Amino acid sequence: MIDASSFKGRDIVSMSDFDREEIDFILDKATEMEPLAERGSDRLRGRILATLFFEPSTRTRLSFESAMLRLGGGAIGFAEPQVSSVAKGESLSDTIKTVDNYADVIVIRHPEEGAARIAAEAASVPVINAGSGSLEHPTQALLDLHTILASKGRIDGLRIAVLGDLLYGRTVHSLMYALANYRVKVYLVSPRQLRIRRDVLKGVEGKIDYVETEDPGPLLKDLDVLYVTRIQKERFPDPADYERVKGAYTIDKAFLKGADKDLVVMHPLPRMTELSTDVDDTPHAWYFKQMRHGLYVRMALLALVLGRL
Ligand code: NCD
Repeated sequence: MIDASSFKGRDIVSMSDFDREEIDFILDKATEMEPLAERGSDRLRGRILATLFFEPSTRTRLSFESAMLRLGGGAIGFAEPQVSSVAKGESLSDTIKTVDNYADVIVIRHPEEGAARIAAEAASVPVINAGSGSLEHPTQALLDLHTILASKGRIDGLRIAVLGDLLYGRTVHSLMYALANYRVKVYLVSPRQLRIRRDVLKGVEGKIDYVETEDPGPLLKDLDVLYVTRIQKERFPDPADYERVKGAYTIDKAFLKGADKDLVVMHPLPRMTELSTDVDDTPHAWYFKQMRHGLYVRMALLALVLGRL
């Protein structure tokens, strides 16, 4: 049996570092945060969060900062590395050793895949990975699971399609590691060039019942969840390759006509043309609610790693 104390001081770098009991525990705590998000709390009073964002972000950074403030703590940080000494050429580990003096927990997003791990090694305070290149985005996976639970009441037994850029999409990789702890059927839907990374597939081999396909049409009527992702333009080594696949999918109201009436459509956002705004006013649209779950999950994570739950 685990309890809150097993999370105190812990880094959150990869979803593959967590087992089912731990994930379920975090999700339970996130649910307990829902009323606190409404009325506020002083559980983290006197604690300081640093958000170090070396890549663009709207939801992830603001929801972490909001989570900290709603629990009575404070937040510092930068969203543009050009304004920090990184612009003078300071190394990541020196930057982290600096921030370590000023904050009790560090949230980092960085274009390099190993950055969160390096930061975790350099810091004495807990480090939370908010996106490491195209590799992982573990807190997104946790909020995705929390949204699935809220919409479906369970995770086991579901049929989930993950569609779009499975090669460069870090949310997809963390979601796969997370889903490997549950009994689910996963359909990996992508253009051939954007099939899921082989190392991620290897990591979940034998744990997830999956099928790779290019065409979502035939699956639609049997799906419980459709998780749509953006083609990650900024990760393509050759812009011409992006041009070839950017319009691969458009999930719109007309396409969803053949779907189960309870199909849940999710998206980590931001969306481009892969998810039409005409889906927004259908009962399938869960992607706006999904963002709210990010707040609950990040409140729970901050309180857990700071040992205040
Ligand atoms: C995602 C990311 O940054 O990986 N955004 C997010 O955190 N919600 C997805 C994306 O950028 O497509």
